[in-house]
Amino acid sequence: MRKNIVAGNWKMNKTLQEGLELAKSLDQALAGKKLNCDVVICTPFIHLASVCQSVNTEVVGVGAENCADHTSGAYTGEISAPMVASTGAKYVILGHSERRAYYGETNEMLKTKTTLALASNLTPIFCIGEVLEERENGTFFEVVKTQLSEALFGFSAEEFAKIVIAYEPVWAIGTGKTASADQAQEIHAFIRKTIEENYGKEIADNTSILYGGSCNGSNAKELFANPDVDGGLIGGASLEVDKFMPIIEAF
Ligand code: PGA
Repeated sequence: MRKNIVAGNWKMNKTLQEGLELAKSLDQALAGKKLNCDVVICTPFIHLASVCQSVNTEVVGVGAENCADHTSGAYTGEISAPMVASTGAKYVILGHSERRAYYGETNEMLKTKTTLALASNLTPIFCIGEVLEERENGTFFEVVKTQLSEALFGFSAEEFAKIVIAYEPVWAIGTGKTASADQAQEIHAFIRKTIEENYGKEIADNTSILYGGSCNGSNAKELFANPDVDGGLIGGASLEVDKFMPIIEAF
């Protein structure tokens, strides 16, 4: 059966010292608790190695927020999937809407990044989602279907089964405006059906599909209660333990 996952996305926040403090406090808050979900924190690259050594990674999974579309070589400033994996990190967010919008990441590039992440045994948390205009003109189903098919549906069933999907409507990210529980369930069910059409029912049933976009302690329970919402990708509310814990405990 698929896993419930609550993953933090720190984005470009926290110095190394602040990040270590946050990771350690979260680790302490979770120690000995019986949880109904896996917990992951995705941090800036420079935090990864230290964070992996400072937390019990069996309790707090650690991931990067991106990786390069090459393995090594003359790509100044880039960080490859093998480098991420060498820190002890087990996850990598790919295709976040901020990467797509500000850094020109295309579905084709993301396909390559996913290939390289999988080759390094990282679990991709692959983001898809529509902008406001696409929500309002009703094309959002097509938009997420295209993102899935161009970036991911070339993978074998065995490979696809290792990927976590995060549906994040761009209009809900960092805006305080969340999708309603019904809107989330509708599109998550559509995503699962689309996966089923390509890979069959078993793989679709086993794929974790997270919701992201202004998810917080007040709305997490209602969102996660939906049958096709298997957790959350959390930005702002993952930056403080007191805000992140109620989301984890919503399961
Ligand atoms: P938010 O960000 O929770 O701050 O809206 C979510 C994300 O971008 O992953």
